[in-house]
Parts: sequence; C-alpha cells; structure tokens
Amino acid sequence: MGATTADNIVRKELAEEVILLDIKEGLAEGKAQDISQTAALLGFDSKIKGVTNDYSQTAGSTVAVITSGIPRKPGMTREELIGTNANIVKDVALNLLKYSPDVILVVVSNPMDTMTYLALKATGLPKNRIIGMGGTLDSSRFKYQLSERLGASPADLNAIVIGGHGDTTMIPLIRHATWNSLPVTAFLSEEEQAEVVNDTMVGGATLTKLIGTSAWYAPGASSAAVVESIVRDQKKLFTASVYLEGEYGQTDINIGVPVILGKNGWERILELPLDESEQAEFAKSADAVRSMNNVLKEIGAW
Ligand SMILES: NC(=O)c1ccc[n+]([C@@H]2O[C@H](COP(=O)([O-])OP(=O)(O)OC[C@H]3O[C@@H](n4cnc5c(N)ncnc54)[C@H](O)[C@@H]3O)[C@@H](O)[C@H]2O)c1
Repeated sequence: MGATTADNIVRKELAEEVILLDIKEGLAEGKAQDISQTAALLGFDSKIKGVTNDYSQTAGSTVAVITSGIPRKPGMTREELIGTNANIVKDVALNLLKYSPDVILVVVSNPMDTMTYLALKATGLPKNRIIGMGGTLDSSRFKYQLSERLGASPADLNAIVIGGHGDTTMIPLIRHATWNSLPVTAFLSEEEQAEVVNDTMVGGATLTKLIGTSAWYAPGASSAAVVESIVRDQKKLFTASVYLEGEYGQTDINIGVPVILGKNGWERILELPLDESEQAEFAKSADAVRSMNNVLKEIGAW
C-alpha cells in the first residue's frame, strides 16, 4: 500500500522526488523502478527511488507516510497487530526524524489511532505534525456504499466517518451526509441507512476476506489525498486521527475528527455539533481506542 500511495503521488506530481523505503532487501528498489517505468506512458516528471533501510536518502523530506508493519489476515482485527507494529512504527518515525527534523508524519499502519498516538509520544513532535490516516479512507468507503444504494455519483456525495479507525469503533455520520446538499436520509429507508452504515464499518474486513490481505488501492489514494492537501496547502477538510485536548470531550488521545489539512499539517479541528446518540458513540469509540493505547503503556512502548 506504500507503493500505491507513492504511485498516486508521482502521477499527480505532488513532489519532485519520492523515496520508497522498506526493510526487505530490493523490494522498494523494484517497486520504484516499476512505477518509474509508467512515467513515459502517463507523462509525469516526479522521480521515485527505492532504498533498503537507508534513511539518509530520505533527508530533507517535507512529508513522510508510514505504512510499514504487518497487515491483517482474514479474520484478524486491526487491533491484533499492535505489538509488532508498535516497534516498527516507533523505529521508523525516529529514523525519519534524524534526517528530516521538519517532517510532517502521516501514520497509516494499524491499529492506526494507537500508532499515531505512539508516534506523537515517541517523537515529541508538535501535535499538528502527526496525522493519522484512516477516516479519509473510511469516508471514501462510506461514499461508495451510499453511491451504490442511491445510484449516485460518488463525487456528488458529502459524507464523513469519525471516531476510531476500527470495524466497531468508526462512526459513519449518516444524519449529516448529503447528496449535492440534499440529505441522503430523505432517499433511504431506515433499514437501508443501517445497511450502509454497517457495510461501511466492515468495508476493510470485507476486502481482507476477498483478497486475503489488506486492501491497497483506496488506502493508497486516501494517503495521497492527505499528502496533496498538505504539500499544496489546499486546506481541505478530511477526517484524520489527531491529538485531542478537550475537543469532542476527549483529552490525551488520537482519534478521527474533521480537520483542515495544509502546509502546517493539521491546522484546525472542526467541532461538529453531535446529537446525544452520536456523542455516546464517540465516547464509546474513544474508550476502545484508549484501551488499545493502554496496552502500549503496559509494554512501555515509549
Ligand atoms: N489506516 C488505513 O486506512 C490502512 C489501510 C490499509 C492498510 N493499513 C495498514 O498499513 C500497514 C501496511 O499494510 P500493507 O498492506 O501495505 O502491508 P505490506 O505487508 O504489503 O507492506 C508493509 C511493508 O512494511 C515493511 N516493513 C516491515 N517492517 C519494516 C521496518 N521496520 N521498516 C521499513 N519497512 C518495514 C514490510 O517489509 C512490507 O513490505 C498495515 O499495518 C495495515 O494494516 C492501514
């Protein structure tokens, strides 16, 4: 999925150069060459280079997307990846910082909210430079499910998912979703709405079951969209996992909320008025993320 992210980034020429880094000998070099060989066909000038664990090559990076770690297998939850991925994400984040002290980190590895919190605690970076990518993907999957039910163009839909990036912790906000400004709830029965919400929540697990490993096209496109808003200073609104200090009634946690992304990382949190049941769902989701974070504390992850 790291390679698909890079593929999307070079196609859009979001960077002069992209470095693909992996621990497995030759893998990043091979993927980078493969992507480079599409340049003549697709007409982009961005360079892409692959390296095996050589962080000096990443020096002076503006943005780094961390996708390293193990993905889930069918039947696994994102949370089961915690121990292995904690060591990897911490190691990668600290190595990146050695060579790029001003870098903005986009954390994608799962369990993403907990890995984002770990990256923040382990690096001590200002909170605005640590962004967890999950809600952007979940929101795109939510729009896909809505488009299928409504027969609508996905680009005509506005819909966001907040909360933790987990099968049971994400909250697709169907009450707020619109179809070119018309409420989608006007066109879907309560049963259909419940189906859309449920299918969105298990969207990742459904694909893991079909493919046999974690999906990569939509995750890669979502990570690249986050990078684009940062490097082009677009100030786009995305759901991202950011550090809360009282917003949405939560403190000392990274979890998905609507934010503005620009050249300074996440620049502003938008506080959406939630109704009572949405508030209760958000608090429950935060409790689940916090219990994952406590596992990190127990194993002394930072
Ligand atoms: N947040 C999201 O929306 C989202 C979406 C999809 C996948 N994911 C997560 O992203 C992660 C990657 O998924 P994937 O499908 O790309 O897996 P993958 O196995 O295809 O790729 C992971 C890569 O990380 C490399 N790696 C392992 N340890 C490393 C280290 N210490 N340094 C550098 N590289 C290292 C591996 O060699 C491997 O090539 C998983 O944790 C997955 O669950 C998150």
